Amino acid sequence: MKTLAIIGCGRIARGAHFPALSKMEGIRVKYACDLIIEKADKMKADFPFIEQTITDYHVALNDPEVDAVFVLTPNYAHYTVTMDALRAGKHVMCEKPITVNYALSVEMAEEAEKQGKILNIGVCNRYHKSVEILEEMNREGKFGKIYHVYCSFRACRSIPGLGGAFTTKAQSGGGVLIDWGVHFFDLILYILGEAKVKNLTCDAYSEMAKDMKSYRYKGMWAEDTADIENGTNDVDDFITGYIRTDAASISFNGAWAQNLEERGMYIDFLGDKGGARLDYGDQFSFFDGQTLETERSAHEIPDMYQKEDEAFLESIDTGVYNRNHISHILETMKLLDSLYRSADIKKEIEL
Ligand SMILES: NC(=O)c1ccc[n+]([C@@H]2O[C@H](COP(=O)([O-])OP(=O)(O)OC[C@H]3O[C@@H](n4cnc5c(N)ncnc54)[C@H](O)[C@@H]3O)[C@@H](O)[C@H]2O)c1
Repeated sequence: MKTLAIIGCGRIARGAHFPALSKMEGIRVKYACDLIIEKADKMKADFPFIEQTITDYHVALNDPEVDAVFVLTPNYAHYTVTMDALRAGKHVMCEKPITVNYALSVEMAEEAEKQGKILNIGVCNRYHKSVEILEEMNREGKFGKIYHVYCSFRACRSIPGLGGAFTTKAQSGGGVLIDWGVHFFDLILYILGEAKVKNLTCDAYSEMAKDMKSYRYKGMWAEDTADIENGTNDVDDFITGYIRTDAASISFNGAWAQNLEERGMYIDFLGDKGGARLDYGDQFSFFDGQTLETERSAHEIPDMYQKEDEAFLESIDTGVYNRNHISHILETMKLLDSLYRSADIKKEIEL
């Protein structure tokens, strides 16, 4: 039996981790913590297996019964909460991105090593069935050599929580690149066999809500965190660039908002024997260069959050690092950091 504390009772807690935990055995959730007690209390009402609600996460860290904590707070709090938890001797499952930049991410990885605790990152797509199959197909040589990957993570006018934590660089680390791009690049590097980045160039734009009050939108997720009157919007709403890795090159476009209705959320893997388009979060199609036929995958897509949470708990037991261990995710964070740096200085960067 493992005793858990869940820190942060917002959207990802409600939509992903509490439902996943509710289906798992061998755990008890002793604490649900949120700075806003009403959010923790509402969670307890909806998920009655939660034993207590608290506002100060140190209560859970000081409790010797707690084995592990989930850090489901906004990005800026990942570092502090995770470091405190590791130093208190807890294993940590921290949501993506690791934190707001690469330097702090490295510190988190070093602290986990020092404390001898598991620190996993919520790059859940590594446990998505389609991603697992594509990774295996690449290892089996079905693509031949994957020489290029193109990815698009573009939506029409859907900047989240305008003026709040999502659009304030000091709190989020960036905009569409760090929020959506993290998933796309992480799964690409994973499928390519933990590819290492060699050099890259990037341009970032923040064009759509320069004047927050006149920004018009079709949808605004995280609207409860918006502060259009007094808040900040200093992050990228469009991002584009080119990356060379030791496996394949990658080109990409990402948009939280664009003046095009098309929503393009997919990744194309181009190999000399075969190619695949992965519809993000869904199935994929594979074109075989020998038969000249395209086959659409048809498999069940189990709950990737449940799989990543179960794998985290198993890692605690075995001590074996799984695919979401921070040591496997640092390259993704280095990539994101370097893309932002390239966009800032408007030059190519060698890593
Ligand atoms: N893996 C995914 O697909 C995915 C999807 C969405 C969000 N996320 C990540 O999850 C994290 C949370 O995102 P969200 O959309 O749930 O945000 P949210 O704003 O809905 O929820 C965050 C909650 O954390 C609470 N909080 C902040 N600081 C705290 C502290 N020190 N102690 C206790 N509670 C604290 C806030 O009050 C809030 O209720 C972000 O890092 C985000 O990038 C991941």
